[in-house]
Amino acid sequence: MSLSKASVGLLGLGAHVPERVMENSEWSEYVDTSDAWIRERTGIERRRVLADDESTLDLALPAARLALADAGLEASDLDEIIVATDTPEVYIPDTSAILQDRLGAREVPSYDLGASGCAGFLQALSVARSRVLDPDDEMRHRRVLVVGVEALTRLMNWRDRSTCVLFGDAAGATVVGRLGTAGDGAFPGAAFLGATAGTDGSKADILCLETGGTRRPFNLEAAEAGGHHDIVMKGREVFREAVRRMSEASTLVLERAGVTMDDLALVVPHQANLRIINAVAHRLGVPDDKLYVNVQDYGNTGSASVPLALWEARGMGRIQRGDLVLLTAFGAGFHWAATLLRF
Ligand code: ACO
Repeated sequence: MSLSKASVGLLGLGAHVPERVMENSEWSEYVDTSDAWIRERTGIERRRVLADDESTLDLALPAARLALADAGLEASDLDEIIVATDTPEVYIPDTSAILQDRLGAREVPSYDLGASGCAGFLQALSVARSRVLDPDDEMRHRRVLVVGVEALTRLMNWRDRSTCVLFGDAAGATVVGRLGTAGDGAFPGAAFLGATAGTDGSKADILCLETGGTRRPFNLEAAEAGGHHDIVMKGREVFREAVRRMSEASTLVLERAGVTMDDLALVVPHQANLRIINAVAHRLGVPDDKLYVNVQDYGNTGSASVPLALWEARGMGRIQRGDLVLLTAFGAGFHWAATLLRF
């Protein structure tokens, strides 16, 4: 017997950010920039930055524990773990394996969705949903931990003003499963009503980190030649693609689900830049009171951005039982995705 799609959803939410707050004004110690430029062009006012002795796991672990507690579940209840990240704890093995051990989960399949950028969390949600809906599987009550975690301040060039001011560090997490299979958490769950995703690999070069792979290994020779191991970006092209793809993906998901913008309680877009968010909202006709924005406090936190914003929005009472909530994201690849939930 197969499950109906809407019977699967999010069972719990969690998020975590590092303690250190870095205000825009601090960037002038590193590059020729100003608080006014960053605010005006991006909407970002501050971001969270990992301490020197912290790493990706220090974000992923507390976010995952919060999501489990929210769902009233233990780590031992998990049947699968997916981590979406561009900034793994180490290169090999993947972050999910280390997280599985640190969480104390069982020896369940665990894997990373690597380097799919800021759309990674929504892509991972789709994979998790299809795992739970798999009709051939005997595990009717499969529960999948999905974590979006990013320590982007470790991968950016702190001397490149066109990128460094944009990013921050954070993690967001959820547990995907059949609604009603959670424990005694406070959260009644959010059903998947629809999802879409896409990729245009011909635009891989507009946002990339080319060194460190097999084409351009980041070895001693590369370092001695003054090479950098950091993100490069064609900002204006990213901007254009982001607006177009998030708008189109959102429209498609709403049409397929037979709902309109008026039916939505909240839109939670990827928090890369306030101007991008506002342009998408304008195209879709989303009024300010239905738009969740926290880019001013965290900057662009990659695959953590959407789950962090969703978790915060719910915590601030912006989402009530029965509300329809649209999530949409874009990222390096070029990837995009949108997901519709009913809380
Ligand atoms: N401070 C001061 N000046 C700056 C800075 C800075 N931090 N960065 C760039 N400038 C300068 C440029 O050098 C340029 O100077 P010039 O005219 O003398 O050459 C001028 O500002 C204008 O630069 P533009 O790149 O044209 O500025 P723009 O208005 O396009 O804003 C920005 C740049 C913020 C990067 C914008 O293009 C943008 O937001 N793009 C999308 C970025 C994004 O969302 N990335 C997400 C990637 S990560 C992901 O989602 C996976």
